[in-house]
Amino acid sequence: MTTDIKLDHYRIETFRQLVDDHYRLRGRRLPWRETTDPYHILVSEIMLQQTQVQRVRDKFTEFVGRFPDVPALSSASMHDVLEAWQGLGYNRRARSLKESAELIMERHQGKVPDEEASLVELPGVGTATARAVQAFAFNKPVVFIETNIRTVYLHHFFKGRERVPDRELEPLVEQTLDRENPRRWYNALMDYGVFLKHDQGNPSRASYHYMRQSPFEGSTRQVRGAVLRRLLNSEPVPYRELAKELPFEAGRIEEALRGLETDGLITRRGSRFSIDRARPDGKKRP
Ligand code: ADE
Repeated sequence: MTTDIKLDHYRIETFRQLVDDHYRLRGRRLPWRETTDPYHILVSEIMLQQTQVQRVRDKFTEFVGRFPDVPALSSASMHDVLEAWQGLGYNRRARSLKESAELIMERHQGKVPDEEASLVELPGVGTATARAVQAFAFNKPVVFIETNIRTVYLHHFFKGRERVPDRELEPLVEQTLDRENPRRWYNALMDYGVFLKHDQGNPSRASYHYMRQSPFEGSTRQVRGAVLRRLLNSEPVPYRELAKELPFEAGRIEEALRGLETDGLITRRGSRFSIDRARPDGKKRP
């Protein structure tokens, strides 16, 4: 059953007040909220896709310090980008982000575009990330849902329901959106969602889209992370050395190496593996 809820003015206002009151009293100060630089916002949104706020907090500042703008990231080597990405996990995102920077140089004169159609052409950027960038960088009144926002709407408008799909939440996000200041509104919504999760367990479980992150211990992610760490700041490493040094079965290491190579994160020459240190412009690291 789909419910097309039409909220009246009173309900919208009370809901907005509640979210806004919480934000004024308990809103979080986060480094990406101190900027509206579209490139910095894009970096933060890619990091936040699969990594907890606490971990992103420190890494974000370090990353944009090292690669302060699109030209800097686009001309960096994969090695240096992966080095700065250490600790965030899901390293494929580092490559996507770097490729996005290259594409932004080619197609948009180094300026992050503000249109959804152009944003979703960037690797690693889906609709939700594109719209988050539009809201946080350009203050555009777009409708999007991420996990904390989902929590808020499920809690307020779908109590007792199970497996609610996002398309049922979207009309409510749309009706309650503060079109005057979408940037502030979405920050406030996310913080309220975090508060609700702490306060009453995780209402996102009521979502059709609820997924737990799979365990890290024993995962391919873990093996891939260990291989990358070993290859960073190193001469090319022969396979037999990796198999000897890393505490995983040979088959797991081979699988991780194949995956990392397919994803363009490492290079194989003969039996040696390395992370590419060449910069696209051919210059040496400054
Ligand atoms: N999750 C996704 N985007 C976020 C943001 N801008 N702030 C906090 N958490 C987020």
